[in-house]
Amino acid sequence: MALFASCPRGLEKLLAEEISQQGGSELQLTDGGVHFTGNQEVMMRVNLHSRTASRLLQQLAQGSFQIERDIYTLAKSIDWPALFDISNTIKVKTDGHARLRSIDYVSLIVKDAICDRFRALNDERPSVDTRRPDIRIRVFLSGFDVQIYLDTSGEALFKRGWRDETGEAPLRENLAAGILLSAGYNGSQPLLDPMCGSGTFLVEAADIALNRAPGRLRNFAFEKLNTHNDLLWHSIRNDAELAVRPLEKLAIYGNDASLEMVEIARHNLTRCGLESLVSLSHGDATELQAPAASGLLVCNPPYGIRLDEQDSLAELYPRLATWLKRNFAGWTAHLMTADNRLPALMRLNAEARPLLYNGALECRVYAFPLVAGSNRKE
Ligand SMILES: C[S@@+](CC[C@H](N)C(=O)[O-])C[C@H]1O[C@@H](n2cnc3c(N)ncnc32)[C@H](O)[C@@H]1O
Repeated sequence: MALFASCPRGLEKLLAEEISQQGGSELQLTDGGVHFTGNQEVMMRVNLHSRTASRLLQQLAQGSFQIERDIYTLAKSIDWPALFDISNTIKVKTDGHARLRSIDYVSLIVKDAICDRFRALNDERPSVDTRRPDIRIRVFLSGFDVQIYLDTSGEALFKRGWRDETGEAPLRENLAAGILLSAGYNGSQPLLDPMCGSGTFLVEAADIALNRAPGRLRNFAFEKLNTHNDLLWHSIRNDAELAVRPLEKLAIYGNDASLEMVEIARHNLTRCGLESLVSLSHGDATELQAPAASGLLVCNPPYGIRLDEQDSLAELYPRLATWLKRNFAGWTAHLMTADNRLPALMRLNAEARPLLYNGALECRVYAFPLVAGSNRKE
């Protein structure tokens, strides 16, 4: 089948590596995702194992159009009743650019085409649920081209199934995993998030260290499809469980200045069975000592979007720089921020990584290799 995995922009290469590992072939990278081919097993494996994907879509039809009616005809050519049962609720969403009256109207006619295919069978149609549909259909328009996809994931893949409380600004799980993997984290290095908030980096790092599948706690839309092979799915999940490393302690450390956030992080770690494996502390980041001789420090300081945050961040960054330089020789610090003043205010040599997007927020990771006494900019 022809598949498309989407991801936060900037993580396409990492996603492509993950897809190859799970058996995907004919990979083509594009802005915000990877096109590839694979069978049902590959589709399930990517859904379960990808740490960086946002969604995995299966292409059902592709064609060109002049008027809306052509899109209806293309959508109606798909055998929807063969794909899913009428008892499932549906939602159609359209994105892209085309010279049409309205994009929402395209969603409406594709929904009509689906319902008409069902009605032709037994005079009944599936219901629409715009909030929590069982089956999501995505339509992409580009000029006079239209592509119709079935979302095999359901809820976005960054929803791992453990988060029920969010901090002020939780990081999307797939973006956190992507930042860790880009930083070279493989589970063997000590890892510290000194501003851990709700603990997203900690959980994602622990999953990498333990080789746990990020999707193990959740369900997927493909489980509702008529074509679903439950036996195969069970064996894929079973393989994933057998591959987990049985570690008793992880060199993963989290800290936050807010006691409330530390408690939320603790709650999230407990939800993931990590409370005794990951160490948490409460206090100002700059009071921490390095927990090991070398390692990775990864965090996203407050974003600095609100005006009242800007002044306190301008004071925080140089303080962080001094603290890093004094205490973390041998470490590399990776700071993710939407605030492009950060490297100048830290006055440390930084390797800037490509742009990343946390939702709509444009961010960058600045990597500071910390070598004793050598990288302060004068
Ligand atoms: C953008 S949030 C981090 C979000 C986190 N990555 C998550 O996924 O939930 C920034 C965090 O930094 C914490 N913070 C701000 N200043 C701090 C400081 N000086 N020391 C420690 N933590 C601090 C805040 O309490 C907040 O939880």
